[in-house]
Amino acid sequence: MAQKLALPVKLPELETVEKQLEEIINETQGPAGEICSYMLRAGGKRLRPTLVLLSARCFADTAPPQAVTAAVAAELIHLASLIHDDIIDNAGSRHSKPSVNSRWGNKIAVLAGDNLFAKAFGLLSKSKLYNVLELMVEAIEDMCSGEIEQALDSFNAEQKEENYYRTISKKTGKLIAVCCQSGSLSSQAGEEHSLALREYGMNLGYAFQIADDILDFTGKVNVLGKPTGLDLAQGTLTLPMLNLLKNSRYSAWVKKVLQDKQFNETTRQAVVDALLESGALEEAKAVALAFSQSARSCLCKVPANIYRDTLEQLALTAVERHK
Ligand code: IPE
Ligand code: IPE
Ligand code: MG
Ligand code: MG
Repeated sequence: MAQKLALPVKLPELETVEKQLEEIINETQGPAGEICSYMLRAGGKRLRPTLVLLSARCFADTAPPQAVTAAVAAELIHLASLIHDDIIDNAGSRHSKPSVNSRWGNKIAVLAGDNLFAKAFGLLSKSKLYNVLELMVEAIEDMCSGEIEQALDSFNAEQKEENYYRTISKKTGKLIAVCCQSGSLSSQAGEEHSLALREYGMNLGYAFQIADDILDFTGKVNVLGKPTGLDLAQGTLTLPMLNLLKNSRYSAWVKKVLQDKQFNETTRQAVVDALLESGALEEAKAVALAFSQSARSCLCKVPANIYRDTLEQLALTAVERHK
């Protein structure tokens, strides 16, 4: 069953997306093919293909082949970005399996990620979907500069909240935004509609990443399928930590923790307790909910149907999810 997210509608095109992903990756011979296939089969929610297809379905009875191609390319790009992100974050697992970097090492993982990016570009150019190609390239550029900015800001307790928002809009929001825009464009949606969906995607992306940042403190490793506590260990100051830094009772202590860089289980638990006790986590969740609400408001401009309702529901589950 290709549909990985619980949705009120059936999206049979997701089966086609899954088949095409398999086919594209099977074309790659040798070890590169083996690694990409390992990554593909390990799973994931397939959120981005789902968004492309739902955005296409908002304007057409079935998602056209161009939407399926855009959905395949989006997932290839997402998988590539996860492989690279796990190198950057020094993460040992993904989708409940050893990460590509931990199984094959960083050198091989960089190249496997590059291979998936190349597959996405090849697919979009071969299909002559130049408008989608342009949007996806723009998203990849932002993803890279978002990750660079995040790395440069690590352990910087003086950083501004606006830096955090800029970073997450680039590393996560933009790809989700262009997925929604690409899907609607493939169904010949007008500019007003496709831009409303892009805006929906950007707001969903903010909500989704803030929820992910909360789960890095409170999530269950066996449910998430990836490690928790890595953001703190890497010095990535996400919204919950920025909230805690603003709290006069905790600020000096948090700065000391960041300076010491002794991230054992005891420190981690002390930070989680402080985040809970101070309301810093609750506050971050409220911000995620506000972005989810903004995402839903963007949908007012889109014709009402079950696919629009599903997009609306996804905005809510992005915040309430456990994985
Ligand atoms: C993980 O994305 C990276 C973030 C943007 C937080 P997903 O949660 O969508 O990844 P999958 O579902 O494991 O593929
Ligand atoms: C999202 O940030 C990274 C990408 C957009 C690829 P994270 O580093 O928080 O993602 P996870 O938690 O590893 O999935
Ligand atoms: Mg990561
Ligand atoms: Mg994370």
